[in-house]
Amino acid sequence: MSDAVRIAILISGHGSNLQAIIDAVEAGRLPGVTIACVVSDRAGAFGLQRATRHGLPAIHFPYPPRSAGQAARRMRDAELADLLERHGVQWVVLAGWLRVLSGQFLRRFPNRVVNLHPALPGQFPGLNAIERAFQAYRATSQAGLPGETGVMVHLVPDESVDAGPVVAMESVPIYPDDTLESLTDRVHQVEHRLIVDALSKLLTEHRQPAT
Ligand code: GRF
Repeated sequence: MSDAVRIAILISGHGSNLQAIIDAVEAGRLPGVTIACVVSDRAGAFGLQRATRHGLPAIHFPYPPRSAGQAARRMRDAELADLLERHGVQWVVLAGWLRVLSGQFLRRFPNRVVNLHPALPGQFPGLNAIERAFQAYRATSQAGLPGETGVMVHLVPDESVDAGPVVAMESVPIYPDDTLESLTDRVHQVEHRLIVDALSKLLTEHRQPAT
């Protein structure tokens, strides 16, 4: 069996975590990992430009609108799995992908879908997690005391939102003089490191021959 592990990175926007993974691969910090393709459900996602700049296949993969119904969207998930398989993808990394993938998709990559979420396990699943953590701190904090949020990387076993076996997590302090912007920057810095560490751990384990 080849040592190389082919990953797809799914994004919906800015792609700063995608960039962190690309940089790590190019710097040899994820040995044996190949980025087979980058996929965005949004045409204007800046991450697609990042991928193109680095010579990676950058694919805009639009979804039908919500009004098309659940069945149409699930069918699109199956087509996404087909696309990834055509690119020889073994692992799927959700790095700012803002969709819940169906069980049908997940079963095509069992235990091989990884999600990055900017909060600690069980806290603030869904969109705008950093903002919600910041607001919760503001609403409950006692004067002068720091609070805590964090980052986690987890496997995606089913359609639960931002939940699953944790691969890596790290807490991030919230300081009384933080703004949403300063907290967001701090969380993103941790994300950029943690996603690479988690992939290193997962994919290195994956490459180890069975004993
Ligand atoms: C990250 O905070 C990620 O955890 C969340 O969406 C954001 C994407 O940022 N799911 P970017 O596109 O990687 O810059």
